[in-house]
Amino acid sequence: MTPGRAGRLAVLGGERAVATTDRRIFDWPQWTPEHREAMLAVIDSGGTSEWDVTLQFEAAWAAYNGVEYALAYPNGTAALQAAMFAVGLQRGDEIIGPAFTYWASLSPALTLGAISVFADLDPESLCLDPRSVAAKIGPRTRAIMVVHYNAHPAAMDELLALARQHDLRVIEDVSRAQGSLYRGTMCGALGDVGALSMMARKSFAIGEGGMLVTRDRAVYERAVAWSHYERHDSDLTDPALRAISGIPLGGVKGRLNQVAAACGLVETRHYPARLREIDAALRRFAEGLAGVPGVRLRAVDEPGSSMGGWYYPVVHYEAAALGGLPLAEFGRAVAAEGAWWAPLPDRPLHRHPFFQQADIYGDGQPTRLVGATRDVRDADGDLPVSETIRERACMGPWFKHDWADQIAAQATAWRKVAEQADTLLAARAAAAD
Ligand SMILES: Cc1ncc(COP(=O)(O)O)c(C=O)c1O
Repeated sequence: MTPGRAGRLAVLGGERAVATTDRRIFDWPQWTPEHREAMLAVIDSGGTSEWDVTLQFEAAWAAYNGVEYALAYPNGTAALQAAMFAVGLQRGDEIIGPAFTYWASLSPALTLGAISVFADLDPESLCLDPRSVAAKIGPRTRAIMVVHYNAHPAAMDELLALARQHDLRVIEDVSRAQGSLYRGTMCGALGDVGALSMMARKSFAIGEGGMLVTRDRAVYERAVAWSHYERHDSDLTDPALRAISGIPLGGVKGRLNQVAAACGLVETRHYPARLREIDAALRRFAEGLAGVPGVRLRAVDEPGSSMGGWYYPVVHYEAAALGGLPLAEFGRAVAAEGAWWAPLPDRPLHRHPFFQQADIYGDGQPTRLVGATRDVRDADGDLPVSETIRERACMGPWFKHDWADQIAAQATAWRKVAEQADTLLAARAAAAD
């Protein structure tokens, strides 16, 4: 039966499933008068470059994450670079990480003279596939960079076992997974060190900022030595580090602006409630998608594990269940309904010229290969999940409030398009004739 105008797809001239959206459901970050007062107090005190408030923020973040040490940075990239140095990554060492993530998960390795090696993803979680990691381990492998992709905890038990077996250090990039739990422990507190971004669009947002977390005093001290020269005298006990104190070993300072620290201190108190609301919203959306062919909200479903702030929720897409309709066409039709749809924001990194070709320091060869004992570059097709995942997964609505009517309307739009995939395919075939 041909649907009436109300039921017809908007992309084919029908009425939109989502007539109006209260955009506040997507507003982020949510700063309250309490945040503003705390930030203004720092400005009024003239203490933007001090670190008294930052110390309080770090203590609160360490307590929330269940770790001994937290160290703040101006951004996540700086925290990741410090984490790599802190676990002892050196010139010529290899670090294995996922081929599909934000570039900063692995790019800092090049600044240390270390070599990034890419492994493939688990197609369900979109985090590192431990079997792919195992296949990439070589004699110079020293560390694994685990990314908890868009808030989904990675397979830490398997990855930590692999690390123990091969004497590797484990760094966690928690930039999109603040507050995600893995079997009862906070992501970031499972490996040797965790590092994360707190820029404005992250689940835990303070404008711009980053944080390093660890239980290990030696890792903490190396991180302090790397970029927090102002704390060398107070925090370094290792005689070797104390001997060169006063100038950051990384050559660049890593102090966080205290306006952001003040914001973070307040946000830490609000964060558990925010996660509860986001989780309720996304679970409601998942229920709304129940039974819709071809689409499924990715979630973690085991005791003690959670999706934290969900970051950008990931929707798995199965074109075969929709007559082969490509994801991009499905997405255009969802967007035409007035609903939220977006492709995954990342690109496979292993084929990017930055990692394949760029000679950043004038060595006459790709920087990534300087000091390498083997050619770690990958060819097209070597990491199939990373290379094709953008055709099989996308981002669902980034709900920040659990507003039932709004969420139901969005789910209805996705359902409407999925249930009329054949109409879209027929319209395409007719246009091609
Ligand atoms: C997974 C991941 N790692 C690292 C970063 C880098 O953080 P920043 O932008 O704060 O430097 C980001 C985000 O920007 C990210 O999403």
